[in-house]
Amino acid sequence: MIYDFKGKNVWVTGASSGIGMGLANQLAEKGATVFVSARNVDKLNENFADNASVTILSGDLTSADVNKKIAAQIKASAGGLDCVIFNAGTAEYVDVYNFSAAPFERMIEANYFSMVRGIEAAMPLIKESKNAYLVGMSSSVSWQGLPSGQAYSASKAAIRNLFQGLKIELAPKDIAVSWICPGFVKTPLTDKNTFDMPFRVSIEEATDTIVKHLEKQTTEIHFPKRFTYFLKIVSYLPAGLAAKILSKTVPESSL
Ligand SMILES: NC(=O)c1ccc[n+]([C@@H]2O[C@H](COP(=O)([O-])OP(=O)(O)OC[C@H]3O[C@@H](n4cnc5c(N)ncnc54)[C@H](OP(=O)(O)O)[C@@H]3O)[C@@H](O)[C@H]2O)c1
Repeated sequence: MIYDFKGKNVWVTGASSGIGMGLANQLAEKGATVFVSARNVDKLNENFADNASVTILSGDLTSADVNKKIAAQIKASAGGLDCVIFNAGTAEYVDVYNFSAAPFERMIEANYFSMVRGIEAAMPLIKESKNAYLVGMSSSVSWQGLPSGQAYSASKAAIRNLFQGLKIELAPKDIAVSWICPGFVKTPLTDKNTFDMPFRVSIEEATDTIVKHLEKQTTEIHFPKRFTYFLKIVSYLPAGLAAKILSKTVPESSL
C-alpha cells in the first residue's frame, strides 16, 4: 500500500540544510503540511519562508522541553501529527589513540537522545493518527564499526536498534516504522570530510530515493546500493576477515 503524503501532517527535524531540507521540500510538494525544525532560524527562513505548506518551529532538539513545545505547537496549529522524520544529527570523528569520552557523549546526545526525546514528545499525537508513521535517520555505518567514526556510528547503531524494536512492537498498534541508512550524501555534514567518499550522491538523488521508499513504507531504506550492499556484505563476514578488509580505511594519521 502506498503511503500518500497528501493531506498528512509531517514533522521533519534537521531541515535547515542537507537531507532534511530536501525531504521537507519534496513532502510539501506532495501535498503534506510540513513542520520543520532545526536551530538555525535564518537558514530555515531562507529555505521555507515563502512556502505556505511549511511551518518553521525552531529549537535545539537535544532539549526535551523544546521537543514537547514543538509537539504542542503542531497540535495547536494542525490538530494532529501523522508522520515524523527524525533526521536531525551531526557527525564528529575521534582519535582513538588519544581516547576521549567527550565526542561519544556529544554524538549520543545530539543524534540519539534528541531523537528519543522527539519520540517522547510526538508519541501522544502519533497514537491518535490513523496514518501513523515514525521514521528514524540512522546510517549505513551503523552496520559496521569503522576507523575514526566510532562515536558517530555507535549513535547511529543505537538509532537503528531502537527503530528495529519499535517496528516490531508498534505494528499491532498500526504505527508504521522505517529507518534510513544512507551511504555518503553531499551535504554540509560531509563537505567537512577530508577522506574519500565513494559513490557520494546529491541531496536530490538522496531525497528522491528516500521519498519513493517512504511512500512504500520500506522498513530499512538504504542507498546507494553499490555502496550499502558492500558494507552489508562485509558486516556479515567473519569479524576478523571484515576487520582485515577494512584495515585499508585506517587514516594515515593513525598509522
Ligand atoms: N550526509 C550523509 O552522507 C549522511 C549519511 C548517513 C546519515 N546521515 C544523517 O542524515 C541526517 C542529516 O544529515 P545531513 O547530511 O543532511 O547534514 P546537515 O546538512 O548538516 O543537516 C543536519 C541537520 O540537523 C540539524 N541539527 C543538528 N543538531 C541539531 C540540534 N541539536 N537541534 C536541532 N537540529 C539539529 C541541523 O540544523 P542546525 O545546525 O540549524 O540545528 C541540520 O538541519 C543526520 O542525522 C546524518 O547523521 C547523513
